Formats: sequence, C-alpha cells, structure tokens
Amino acid sequence: SSTPVITVDGPSGAGKGTISHLLAEKLGWHFLDSGALYRVTGQACVIEGVSWEDHEAVTRIARHLDVSFTTADTGEILVAYKGRDVSRAIRTEEGGRGASTVAAIPAVRQALLARQREFLQPPGLVADGRDMGTVVFPDAPLKIFLTASAEERARRRFDQLLAKGESVSLPRLLEDIEERDARDSQRKVAPLLPAKDAVVIDSTATPVADVFAAVMREVAAKG
Ligand code: C5P
Repeated sequence: SSTPVITVDGPSGAGKGTISHLLAEKLGWHFLDSGALYRVTGQACVIEGVSWEDHEAVTRIARHLDVSFTTADTGEILVAYKGRDVSRAIRTEEGGRGASTVAAIPAVRQALLARQREFLQPPGLVADGRDMGTVVFPDAPLKIFLTASAEERARRRFDQLLAKGESVSLPRLLEDIEERDARDSQRKVAPLLPAKDAVVIDSTATPVADVFAAVMREVAAKG
C-alpha cells in the first residue's frame, strides 16, 4: 500500500498513547490503538464467561470480535463491544492483565492481524502498540520505539489512576508493570522489541512536549 503509516511501539506507560494521539491529530491521520483490541478481547471473554486460559474459545472470540470505536464530542474515544460501552472497563489493571494474557496466544494475534491492517486508510495511519513496526506494519517508513524506566512508568500510571479516583499502591503497580513487561518481552510470538530500523526515544526524564518535538523532527526528516 502507498498509504503512509508511522508505528509507535514500546512498553505500557512510556507515553505512546499521548504521543501517537498528538501525532495523528497533527497530521490529520487515522489512529490505531492496537492495545484496545487486545483489551476488548480480554473483556469480551469476561462478558461471555470464557476463561483467558481457554485458547480455543478466546481465539473464537478474537476472530469474531464485534468492536467499534467512536469519538465522543469531548474528543474521548469510546470503545464498544457488541454495542455496549467498555471504555472504562478495559482501562483497569484487570483489563491490562486480561489483554496481556490473551495477547500471548499466537492464534489470537493472528486473528487480530487483518483487523489491524484495515485501519490503514488514506491519508495515513499512526499505529500504537507493541509489534506495529515488527509484525503488523513491517514496511512502515517511520518507526518510533518509545520507552521509559519501569519506576517512571509506574509513577505515571499511579498519577493517572489517582486522577480517576482509583486507589492503588505504587509498589503494587511497579510489580504489575514489571510482570507485564516480562510477559510481553518473553513471549514467543511478537515479543516486545524495537524493530531494527526503529528510532528509540527514552522519555524517562523528558517532558511530553519535548518527546513530541523529537518525533516531529523524525517525521520531517522522512519528508
Ligand atoms: O497498550 P496497552 O497497554 O493498551 O496494551 C495492553 C496489552 O495488550 C499489552 O500489555 C500487551 O500485552 C498487549 N498488546 C500486544 N500487542 C499490541 C498491543 C498490545 O500484545 N500491539
């Protein structure tokens, strides 16, 4: 396809969501939140009474996943499963665990592959995830790998959850993040690794505006 795609990969909490949203908005391109597809798959299992460990049943759910994304007047992206709003449910810590558990099933990743590529529509796409540059869009002309230390990512997550009124413990969050990192980087299919041709940006000590400026310089350099 000649439609351009920019991939933004990295561990959770590195700022991918914020940066890729800003980028899609700035360029006027479409946006793929691939993590949301895994999160909805996990949540669909809960709704349908299917265990995350039942690979066959989970794969069936992924294959026929009735998911829709709509933008609210507030600009917030709403996610629905079978027409029922799951935007909040999929963003909980439990939602993250479900996503990373079902994401380790090869057949589930395969089932969601075509679904993700359908997001590549003119004038362009910004794709946010773990394997956007390595597996889903290996020919992307610009690949960003955004990272940050586990401690910093836990702190950011802590602040986000507090702002939403969820009570959490920072050590517990750090443990969750380290567990999820290990699961994501050690799995056999599409482990979390930068593509060979990715530009790696560490956001640990860098404000969002500066990270975004660095990404925009890469975009400009690609013409
Ligand atoms: O990005 P987000 O935190 O929403 O992703 C939730 C989980 O989904 C990740 O921890 C990862 O296990 C999985 N995921 C994935 N591949 C992607 C996006 C997300 O395996 N492209």
